[in-house]
Amino acid sequence: MNTPVIRVGIIGAGFVGSSLVELLLDPTRHAALLDAATGPLELVGVAVRDGSKLRSGIPADLLITDAAALAARDDLDILVELAGGIEPARCYIETALRRGVSVVTANKALMAECGTALAQLAHDHGADLFYEAAVGGGIPILRALRSSLAGERINRVMGIVNGTTNYILSKMTSDASDYGDALAEAQALGYAEADPSADVEAYDAAAKVQILSSLAFGTELRGEEISREGITRVRSIDVEFARRAGYVIKLLGVAERVGESGISRRVHPAMIPEDHPLASVHGAMNAVFVEGAKSGPLMWLGQGAGGVPTATAVLGDVLDAARNRVSGRHDVPFSVDTTLHSVPAGDLSSAFYLSIDVLDQPGVLASVAGVFGSHGVSIQSMEQSGVADEARLSFLTHLAKTSDVEATVGDLAKLDSVDSIGACIRVIDGGGE
Ligand SMILES: NC(=O)c1ccc[n+]([C@@H]2O[C@H](COP(=O)([O-])OP(=O)(O)OC[C@H]3O[C@@H](n4cnc5c(N)ncnc54)[C@H](OP(=O)(O)O)[C@@H]3O)[C@@H](O)[C@H]2O)c1
Repeated sequence: MNTPVIRVGIIGAGFVGSSLVELLLDPTRHAALLDAATGPLELVGVAVRDGSKLRSGIPADLLITDAAALAARDDLDILVELAGGIEPARCYIETALRRGVSVVTANKALMAECGTALAQLAHDHGADLFYEAAVGGGIPILRALRSSLAGERINRVMGIVNGTTNYILSKMTSDASDYGDALAEAQALGYAEADPSADVEAYDAAAKVQILSSLAFGTELRGEEISREGITRVRSIDVEFARRAGYVIKLLGVAERVGESGISRRVHPAMIPEDHPLASVHGAMNAVFVEGAKSGPLMWLGQGAGGVPTATAVLGDVLDAARNRVSGRHDVPFSVDTTLHSVPAGDLSSAFYLSIDVLDQPGVLASVAGVFGSHGVSIQSMEQSGVADEARLSFLTHLAKTSDVEATVGDLAKLDSVDSIGACIRVIDGGGE
């Protein structure tokens, strides 16, 4: 029996798209791809924005500038969207899905914005929608959540899901660099964009947490805002305090169960013990730590970005979609659990680290301690150091409700004796906060 040819179109030939074309056209891998796809793959077009750019490795007869026409081709089996952004990427994907064409994308922003609706559209038209590379680049975490852990009750997913911020924090830890210097170095090395806000303000990580949560717990992907705090307020003195106390500061994306039907999704810097598995994830690496009720702790580690590692994950999705085309089936979308409700970050409790600069005057410590007390936030330890005519007070609190700590910070800022307040960082001990 002759297996039909699987026709693949790609939108985008940037870092990921050009690497994918290379993998698909590599003659030494032809037989392996044929085996994995269970049918011959044919690349029928690569759509880009700028047709005048030189693109080595992409045959000129495949390059086109009309992405909409590629998405609407009658003979397409799989559309790979690697352009990024919300529009027009959404429009191309919807066009393809409505025609029953399977879609593979690495677009975390789009999936977080409207993943539930797109997955439903795919299902309604008998197509697949795969997006493994949208979280953790080359790390196959989504497939693990979708398949291997499908029968497990997951309690928490916690990850370092942004390589840029992990590079900056790692640099601040290993070289005692300031935030600004570490960011400049990340930009010089190509780890950070000229405008780094999507990374350092944690928008990118927040989208990934939403995707992880949808597969781990069944929460929806429909553009909800989740609690998000980036790394711009973390200073080298915070990193140094953490080191002396036996912790490492990481930007963590967390999705976890709270009680029977609550889910908390958030991104924030956190101090984690230096012997926690996530503490040894350095540089631009990513890692996702999953706590299952029966499986216990599990961790995936790898390159969270980069053209080739990311394209490898995309290729895995293409092959999955191809196999499904050949066998005439498609995967069911993740199921939404409508009994779940979102727990605001302010309702959760944690220990906190807080450092403030105050005037070095008698009575200041008592007034500062009074503010903590007035909000029921109990101080576990305090360290004082002199800075010119000021003093720096660094506090570790006992477990306290986040909203109470936020109210404490708000009232401390109103004290005349308080000059500045640094980052307020959650302290995570062992497996839990
Ligand atoms: N880079 C990574 O390490 C990484 C990791 C994980 C996920 N991702 C995701 O993968 C996707 C692609 O990322 P990337 O880094 O490869 O992006 P990129 O280097 O900026 O490349 C984007 C490509 O899309 C093309 N493009 C943009 N808008 C288009 C349009 N309207 N029509 C046709 N082509 C269009 C661009 O064409 P021109 O070349 O003509 O400008 C370019 O070739 C994004 O969703 C990103 O979030 C990337």
